[in-house]
Amino acid sequence: MDRLLIRGGQPLCGSVTVSGAKNAALPAMVAVLLTSEELVLENIPSLRDVATIERLLQFMGVEPREGGSGSVCLSSRAVRRCEAPYDLVRTMRASVLVLGPLLARFGKARVSLPGGCAIGPRPINLHLAGLQRMGAEIEIVEGYVVAKAPRLIGTRFAFEQVSVTGTENLMMAATLAKGTTVLENAAREPEVGDLAHLLQKMGARIEGAGTSTITIEGVEDLAGTQHRIVPDRIEAATLAVAGAITQGDVLIQGCIPQHFEAVTTKLQEAGAAVAVEEGGLRVRMGTRPQAVDITTAPFPGFATDMQAQIMALMAIADGKSVITETVFENRFMHIPELVRMGADITFGGPTALVQGVPCLRGAPVMATDLRASASLVIAGLQARGETVLHRVYHLDRGYERLEAKLHSLGGEIQRVEG
Ligand code: EPZ
Repeated sequence: MDRLLIRGGQPLCGSVTVSGAKNAALPAMVAVLLTSEELVLENIPSLRDVATIERLLQFMGVEPREGGSGSVCLSSRAVRRCEAPYDLVRTMRASVLVLGPLLARFGKARVSLPGGCAIGPRPINLHLAGLQRMGAEIEIVEGYVVAKAPRLIGTRFAFEQVSVTGTENLMMAATLAKGTTVLENAAREPEVGDLAHLLQKMGARIEGAGTSTITIEGVEDLAGTQHRIVPDRIEAATLAVAGAITQGDVLIQGCIPQHFEAVTTKLQEAGAAVAVEEGGLRVRMGTRPQAVDITTAPFPGFATDMQAQIMALMAIADGKSVITETVFENRFMHIPELVRMGADITFGGPTALVQGVPCLRGAPVMATDLRASASLVIAGLQARGETVLHRVYHLDRGYERLEAKLHSLGGEIQRVEG
């Protein structure tokens, strides 16, 4: 397994371009199941999770055609299996996104329950409740969701909890349903808006994406189209925090600053200078950060996917910060590893108390999940001495060549293969 070797202390300086958003690429690729025509998707990042969804779609019979760099051309003209097997779904929960499109277009689906993952049990009860409200007959057989629906019917469905992929699953299902569907307490994440934009280009009738209430008027069929997915706001915010912790000066190009304002606002409160410049965002930090309190929340709140990364910054802040994780049950697994690097962090339930220390110390550390890995890379960029990050495959799920991007900014970081 690959390892990353990081020697801290170098300020990151220069410009870097973010890749396409993982969490927009996954639903966009699944949307090919809604049409018999070809989808051409651009700005698709080269990530493990993207490769996983591509394998799953190919298992069903979707035919990928090589596009240019960063482009994926998919056709579901020859789909012959409406199934998502356990060995694929268990490695990536987002595979459950195929449920809605399979039911909408083919009237049947057999999809493995995702099982839990490192950050929590991650049930899909809201996905299933919404599809049942749309007329799907659903039963759980030997760990699989077995669903059928001659024709989904439009309905009104209120999410008792905001769910990003739950919103995406039902929105895709509703595009081909008979009648109108209204999703209430829908997720407002930019990736939901990007999926809605793609579906509209395919001929779907969707209003309100990006707000808490999305209205979808079903149509008979959808066409192929071409679409460039949005830049990755979590990668951009991760790079911003890396620039801040190293007291550097980084221009993050190709990002959409409005997509991660909650994070940049916190960086400014901590003492960073943040400015929109030349098609990107410039982040400068000249001092040790001030401690700030953070509570995660669905968009437009502070993204749970940035909690581990900002905690690394707070670990060396001047003062004490309270970080509360409200979205997932078990998203503090980076804490024991940060403590091994000299951080002073205690936690109980959803709240962590971070007492800033002047400097971290390099150490061998273990990645446990995607964003915890990013947190440890950020900590290693500040720590004195060498940090060795093991199980880098977690990082590769959601960051395209992160070490190359950080190295191009002057970070002393390299990958050791094998
Ligand atoms: C999406 O996951 C993202 N993944 C996650 O990013 C992100 O952390 C999460 O949204 C929250 O923003 C993709 O978009 C592929 P949820 P998702 O459904 O949709 C509970 C990353 O790091 N819930 O919004 O799976 C759930 O347990 C990944 O890139 C139910 O109880 O998350 C959680 O506590 C990690 N029942 C909360 O809702 C359901 O049916 C939010 O989950 C669905 C969700």
